[in-house]
Amino acid sequence: MHLRCINTDCAATLDLHDRSLSCAICGELLEVVVGPVNTTPAELKYTWLQRRCSYDPRDVSGVWRFREFLPGGYSEIVTMGEGNNPLIEGRKTAHWAGLRNLRFKHLGWNPTACFKDLGMTVGLTEAVFIGAKVVGCASTGNTSGSLAAYAARAGLRAKVYLPAGQVSMNKLAQAMDFGAEIVHVAGSFDRALERILHEANDDLYFLNSINPFRLEGQKTVMFELLEQLSWQAPDYIIVPGGNLGNSSAFGKALAELHATGFLPKLPRLIVVQAGGANPLARMWRSGATELEPVESPETAATAIRIGNPRSWKKALRAVRDTNGFVMDVTDEEIAEAKAMIGRDGIGCEPASATTLAALRKLTEQRKIDRDAVVVAILTGHALKDTDYILKSQLREPALQGVCCA
Ligand code: F0G
Repeated sequence: MHLRCINTDCAATLDLHDRSLSCAICGELLEVVVGPVNTTPAELKYTWLQRRCSYDPRDVSGVWRFREFLPGGYSEIVTMGEGNNPLIEGRKTAHWAGLRNLRFKHLGWNPTACFKDLGMTVGLTEAVFIGAKVVGCASTGNTSGSLAAYAARAGLRAKVYLPAGQVSMNKLAQAMDFGAEIVHVAGSFDRALERILHEANDDLYFLNSINPFRLEGQKTVMFELLEQLSWQAPDYIIVPGGNLGNSSAFGKALAELHATGFLPKLPRLIVVQAGGANPLARMWRSGATELEPVESPETAATAIRIGNPRSWKKALRAVRDTNGFVMDVTDEEIAEAKAMIGRDGIGCEPASATTLAALRKLTEQRKIDRDAVVVAILTGHALKDTDYILKSQLREPALQGVCCA
């Protein structure tokens, strides 16, 4: 296994454990190239299932259970049993979105209540391996809580850069609880990210999703999901897009599983952004070849209030490779969809509800058939942003008058 530049014209390679965040030749992002997998799909599928009966921490983790496709050689892994997130059938939500076959993969049901844990277990394992003492990230909230928790487990210092006044109190409290050092940066997430990139030096191991090891962990969401579906791909997988790490990771997983014969048919990947923070959706609609950042991103779904997503090229590749598409939804549509997910007994944070909002739109516009098999990825737990719930429900119960019997 090694690192490779994602620019196919460059394709420079680096040692797997090189700390570079981008290619020294062309400046593009790097990705992990998985080594040859020498076991047949049938054998590996069996092995992965068998590991569910084991109490070895590597098997208990829903990430490391799929370690044949992950960076290896570690003598110690930093894990808290992340992953193992069920697929939950949508009931009222399915009806509301005009679908007959909707399931949610709830990544909010992780140790720190969001999908970031799936990436952090690999990111922190790598950080320990290379001897880092301090880890850091910029964050709209969830990455900071997850980084702080996994750093605490590993005995490393955590430094998190947050857009001042724009992070949910629940997430800020998590980062504090896990003992992170917090730097409040004026402006949006994009400014916080610029600041940490500017200040980063050899003493600080950088763990935003630009870090290719993070994406390796997040990749396993697709492995677990497909296993839960007996390796039959759904028609669509729909995921919220912010900094576009998750969609990039999913695309990488699907490409690897397809190339190695695990998956005859690829699902189509739909990425959904909030209307006020929608640079990729704009680019998709206009057919532009370069991403134009949104200068002042605005959405009540603060997790995805991002104007200049760093992984857009990886995400675009994922969408194109799977014949998917990119779209956006308004804050009103998000609020309504979020309340409906709550009424289904599931709950999620606002950013996650972009998925259901988009599905309702797509069936209304007849862009998705009501019989399509759809999996929506819920990225964060409802308790991640209680202020949002209280404000929206007290002001105007979002589902008043909507069918909810
Ligand atoms: N959903 C939630 C709940 C998130 O926290 C994020 C990103 C996303 C979706 C978007 O994922 O960036 O991989 O496209 N949160 C980051 C953070 C940016 O700092 O917590 P993405």
